Amino acid sequence: MSLAPTWLSGDAWRRADSDVEGILSSDYYVDVARRSEAAHLDFVFRPDTLFLPPHMLESGPGFTSLDPTVLLAALARETTHVGLLSTVSTTFLPPYVVARQIQSLHWLSKGRAGWNIVTALDGNENFGLAEMPSAEERYERAAEFTELVRRLWQSYPADAIKADRASGVYADAGRVRPIEHVGKHLSVRGPLTLPDFGKARIPLIQAGASAAGRNFAASVADAVFASTPDKQAAIDLRRDLRGRAAGHGRKADDILLMPGLSLYLADSRAEARDLFAATHARADRARTLASIRAMIGLDLTDWPDDRRIAAKDLPLPPEAPRSRTRSELLRRAIIQGEPTVGELLRLPEVVASAHWQIVGTVEDAVAEIRDWTADGAIDGFIAVPGGSVTSMRMVLEKLVPALAGEGLFRQRYEAGTFIGHLKER
Ligand SMILES: Cc1cc2nc3c(=O)[nH]c(=O)nc-3n(C[C@H](O)[C@H](O)[C@H](O)COP(=O)(O)O)c2cc1C
Repeated sequence: MSLAPTWLSGDAWRRADSDVEGILSSDYYVDVARRSEAAHLDFVFRPDTLFLPPHMLESGPGFTSLDPTVLLAALARETTHVGLLSTVSTTFLPPYVVARQIQSLHWLSKGRAGWNIVTALDGNENFGLAEMPSAEERYERAAEFTELVRRLWQSYPADAIKADRASGVYADAGRVRPIEHVGKHLSVRGPLTLPDFGKARIPLIQAGASAAGRNFAASVADAVFASTPDKQAAIDLRRDLRGRAAGHGRKADDILLMPGLSLYLADSRAEARDLFAATHARADRARTLASIRAMIGLDLTDWPDDRRIAAKDLPLPPEAPRSRTRSELLRRAIIQGEPTVGELLRLPEVVASAHWQIVGTVEDAVAEIRDWTADGAIDGFIAVPGGSVTSMRMVLEKLVPALAGEGLFRQRYEAGTFIGHLKER
């Protein structure tokens, strides 16, 4: 379950019951986390950015957010089972700080922390970098960074601690070792200031699905958070990731695909469609056109709404789009669907997010999730509910119990740690 209040996106925050004033309070997230735990979810997940485009604030909270790891620490004592997945970029922060924060969250939550590894899309100027490093450089650094964080986590083994009052020996200090890493991008001596938790390791989730991103994910990640707007995209990605994992000496089942699933739920299909339309009524045409141009290099400013766009209209993709994943998804939607400009501007990939989108009733959602599962498209999903607080609560209080009732999801927790939930399938 997303803890980014995606159900306040677009115009949804303007609804009377949105409680948008609460989004910087811990109460707000404790409520969602407890509801998620009541539904026996594997984890709550906080995406993150480290930059703020002020113009976004004109029409909504945009990237306004608490620090994700600090926020999740506030949930640790208010919950008992649900995993707490934080997002931390490998491009900007020092690995020692990241290793320490996530391990601290793991201790505070008794084994429920997870790390969503992102290479980030923007924000370089907030960290003294004039340019955003290239995708190749970011992934090379991400690989070194992640290996370093894992070694730091192991640098102070939990069982080195003896706390032997009689002899006065606190720890077997010889087992607590510096890691002495000097690499291409990073140098860290170690050891970390706190021991590893011992009983359950910290799951690694990765978001970013270019070839370089998939390869990196396949080498380390327990699960991948991806945008797969159609079932075939998910089937292809899942097969690809499982194959790549084998290429890294891992088992195919070691890597789970969990696409984002945007859900606009209501009691009838018509109400759900109205909810989606009301949420996106103000989508700014000029900004949407600019975003299409940035993603795929196609300028549609002078095109009439009823003109169709086909593969032959697509210029070569920009050499360094902000996200190759999003750029490829949009090109694919055009090549397969040949939409008119008007249709393109309403596509979920363009209007909302590039995620799998279900706008309908709980029964519609159950049927589609059942279908995607049966066809080997997914191992799970990350719910990013949209439209309203009611739609978000329907996901937790109606959809998930319905999935559990069909045997597609657990009825109760078997494990008490994040990795325990992921491995119990
Ligand atoms: C589904 C998805 C979710 C992402 N979430 C975040 C995020 O929360 N914060 C962030 O800084 N970057 C996020 N990213 C960006 C990726 O980490 C990566 O920088 C970007 O997608 C470019 O790499 P790619 O071409 O391999 O996709 C996300 C990417 C994807 C595909």
